[in-house]
Amino acid sequence: MHLMSDEILVVGCGSIGERHLRCLQRTGRARVTACDANAALLQRITAQYQVAGFADLQAALAAQRFAGLVICTPAHTHLDLALAGLRHGAGLLIEKPLSTSLENSAAVRDEIAKSGKLVGVAYVYHFMPWIQGARKVLSGGELGRVLHVSVATGQHFPTFRPAYREIYYTRHETGGGAIQDALTHIANAIEWLIGPTTRLFCDAAHQSLEGVTVEDTVSVAARNGGALVNYALNQFQAPNEMTMQIHCEHGSVKIEGHAQRFGVFRRATNAWDWRESAPLERDDIFIAQANAFLDGLAGKPTDLCTFDEAVQTLKFNLAALKSARSGKAVEIS
Ligand SMILES: NC(=O)c1ccc[n+]([C@@H]2O[C@H](COP(=O)([O-])OP(=O)(O)OC[C@H]3O[C@@H](n4cnc5c(N)ncnc54)[C@H](O)[C@@H]3O)[C@@H](O)[C@H]2O)c1
Repeated sequence: MHLMSDEILVVGCGSIGERHLRCLQRTGRARVTACDANAALLQRITAQYQVAGFADLQAALAAQRFAGLVICTPAHTHLDLALAGLRHGAGLLIEKPLSTSLENSAAVRDEIAKSGKLVGVAYVYHFMPWIQGARKVLSGGELGRVLHVSVATGQHFPTFRPAYREIYYTRHETGGGAIQDALTHIANAIEWLIGPTTRLFCDAAHQSLEGVTVEDTVSVAARNGGALVNYALNQFQAPNEMTMQIHCEHGSVKIEGHAQRFGVFRRATNAWDWRESAPLERDDIFIAQANAFLDGLAGKPTDLCTFDEAVQTLKFNLAALKSARSGKAVEIS
């Protein structure tokens, strides 16, 4: 069956923008247009994916009507571009983190209310089956209240992002460093699983990555309401791994991102009950997210991270940076 294609504009076709463009095409439900300020990059993208291209957002929006924009520029530019997109009448999928400050977030919230358009934020962990499955178990209530959570995760960033010295990653002002770039995914996933962070203490340092001075290593002790949560994350270790352990009144949940599985260990049993999913490629998760965006534009409910959830995770990022600078715990309102 052929569904009508939505006109979607990808704004910023760098590393993640190209992936969004490709994955939107692979849904078979979208007609994609590219926008990037880098002329050489735009030329390669338009040729490789056979799409129209614009060097400038205003020119693209003036040329035709788009049902949706996917905003994939560095974080400090997201909210200005979001306002332009909403005023055009488009729904939005905005890359993480939502921004680098709370400035403009109220203006965007007002514009969302006025336009009635869908705005999702691309915290892509929402589309990992092992996170979705764990969330279902936790919200089902059989394990009782969440009491204690620990997360250990890391990867060798230079292997996955060889250009890290030349992009937004080098400065906090453009969304760089381990807190805003990597920890934010994990913090958002934990908030989606157990509820918002209410206070935190963060210690962070530059330990290893060559050619940058931003933190690549982070320790956080947080509270999410009644649960104690700790995070250990670095961007230099050899294994690419992510483990979350969520201990509740009547049992525990363990998520192993690298093994694409989660398990439940109920009190009075003596083994993990693992749930594996069919092996997925990284693009598969982004195709699921792209389908959710198109569903959302059509008015259907989705698992996309909402604008308000992303504002909450932005507060987490800002609190973590503030705590690391001051050496003090920070409350999150
Ligand atoms: N979800 C994920 O797994 C994931 C992975 C990587 C990056 N990201 C996020 O995506 C965003 C972009 O990251 P990236 O790694 O793709 O960066 P990048 O530097 O590779 O690409 C950004 C692109 O935006 C373009 N650009 C900047 N301002 C523009 C403007 N006003 N109009 C048009 N084009 C503009 C640049 O020319 C560049 O090509 C960041 O917020 C980052 O945190 C998310």
